[in-house]
Amino acid sequence: MSYSNGDMCGIAGYVGERNGVEVAYDQLKRLEYRGYDSAGIAVQVDGRLDLVKKAGTLNMLAKELELHPITGTCAIGHSRWATHGGPTDLNAHPHFDGEQDVVLVHNGIIENYLELKEELMQKGHTFLSQTDTEVAAHVIGEEYRKGGTLLEAVRHAVRRFRGAYAFVVMSKSEIGTIVAVRNASPLVLGLGQGENLLASDIPALLPYTRQVVAMEEGHLAELKKDSLRIVDGDGRDVPVRPQIIEWDVAAAERGGYEHFMLKEIHEQPQVIRQCLAGRLTEDRVFLENIFSDTVWNEIDRVNIIACGTAFHAGLMGKHLFEKLLRLPTDVYFSSEFRYGDPVLSPKSLAVFVSQSGETADTLAALRLCKSRRIRTLGIVNVVGSSIARECDRTIFTQAGPEISVASTKAYTAQVLVLSLLALHIAQVQETPGLRVADWVEELRLLSDHAQTVLTLEPETVKLAEQLKNMPLCFFLGRGADAYVGYEGALKLKEIAYIPTQESPAGEMKHGPLALVEAGVGAIFGATDPSTVDKVVSNIKEIQARAGTVLSITSDTSGAIRKASDHTLEFQPTRFDFLNALLSVIPMQLLAYHIANAKGCSIDQPRNLAKSVTVE
Ligand code: M6R
Repeated sequence: MSYSNGDMCGIAGYVGERNGVEVAYDQLKRLEYRGYDSAGIAVQVDGRLDLVKKAGTLNMLAKELELHPITGTCAIGHSRWATHGGPTDLNAHPHFDGEQDVVLVHNGIIENYLELKEELMQKGHTFLSQTDTEVAAHVIGEEYRKGGTLLEAVRHAVRRFRGAYAFVVMSKSEIGTIVAVRNASPLVLGLGQGENLLASDIPALLPYTRQVVAMEEGHLAELKKDSLRIVDGDGRDVPVRPQIIEWDVAAAERGGYEHFMLKEIHEQPQVIRQCLAGRLTEDRVFLENIFSDTVWNEIDRVNIIACGTAFHAGLMGKHLFEKLLRLPTDVYFSSEFRYGDPVLSPKSLAVFVSQSGETADTLAALRLCKSRRIRTLGIVNVVGSSIARECDRTIFTQAGPEISVASTKAYTAQVLVLSLLALHIAQVQETPGLRVADWVEELRLLSDHAQTVLTLEPETVKLAEQLKNMPLCFFLGRGADAYVGYEGALKLKEIAYIPTQESPAGEMKHGPLALVEAGVGAIFGATDPSTVDKVVSNIKEIQARAGTVLSITSDTSGAIRKASDHTLEFQPTRFDFLNALLSVIPMQLLAYHIANAKGCSIDQPRNLAKSVTVE
């Protein structure tokens, strides 16, 4: 059972007899492994709502609570992983509505918040933060002042929201009541004796209760100290069915998964949704905080600069930029770029891809470009990181905290952002023959496709047993499949310690084929129908030298299956590029299960660090 699903923020809530501030703080502490950049707590006291919040670590919040103590038996708390608006005191949660009638915390993204904000500003509302959350607080406050219960107000308000969210709300007048609603962002409720709790993840409930209810999509909950009511979106009561959680705390942090890496692999459908949230309209893509159209029309070359997995995502970007836009694109290792005295056109764009936003070589390459007055764009996961701050513009991948050293979900989000960027440029340049609307339609389905690809996991477990003793493994493909193979190879070598040779399949006969012998494995990515015949020939070349071939394929002709020793097959989307991207998921699963079968230390592979902040 897993409740953790790629969400970004930590949510806490308590109603009972204890000091709610202490409980909420303790709950936030237990969610610390998720990463955060600001935190806050609100309580009900004598017909008003008090709150304390602070940018930075939970210790910063603790100091702020010492300076401005608050207390109450009904409290909500939040640790924020910034997506809209930087990590500042004002952007931290909880947020009040304009009249301070309600206060709330939020996890997720309200896609239509700019429209709602505009509408509210015309009615005279003013806002203190840059967040979508504060807009939601104002909408809920407005509904609440129409009369009725807080539960009803929240139920009506969320009909005005588009996006993925979990909200937890208190009002100043309904004493001892917390209302929660869930739509695509996880929320779990904990049933205690004379007290009830809620949280975004199970570890925050375990010290208080093991009776847990995972909220369903679209449901709302009303928590009081002696009661819990759950209703559906139409206000109809639904039965409360608690489950007993037997996990220990460490397992609960991983959402019941054995390792963070596996949890993060499984989060990818949700990450795809998060990454696309607010960025797709009916038939176009929308990227916030991007250069003007004049700039996009002027750019003559793109240089993508990154390390490791982010470099591999950059290769996918190159493939798309050149194929879709005919825009010349180079991809550089940051460490080579910074010392390589690169030739840079003054009209070029330098794109820096980084999960952490702190990789030393990538940061140095960025500073080099800035000193040469080249335009810079970041594609970064961690809001507030150095690369995000120093680039002229930054697009966030919105993948949520990635804890495993081996990057998985960040890669998928990076490739997606590069795809959105290509489509944005296509829109501006009105690229002939490219129908952005078709891409938008397919991108909307991508999360479901990823979910289906994950069902290949049991087959990867079996294959892992058969392949775990390979002395060497090739990763081969053509076009985008070759680039995805580079990432698959990195996963296998970094966590399972199996030597790999990754290469475009056509290169094999120019040397690497000499390494093939019995026991050697070759993993082919085969998602491009236009190269199936060529790939089949390459498969035969391996087999003729006693190598074993596993193909990861969306080929519907059956040719790849027939030629290979093993296949992992999935249904294709309409775009070969997206099929290639999806094929990384079985590669990640295979690497994970091989490493697991070999007893390797998966989340902390030997000699490696999550963020390489030294040269
Ligand atoms: O934080 P960054 O994306 O800049 O990190 C770059 C590489 O260090 C990173 O992608 C590394 O290769 C991965 N941990 C590999 O799984």
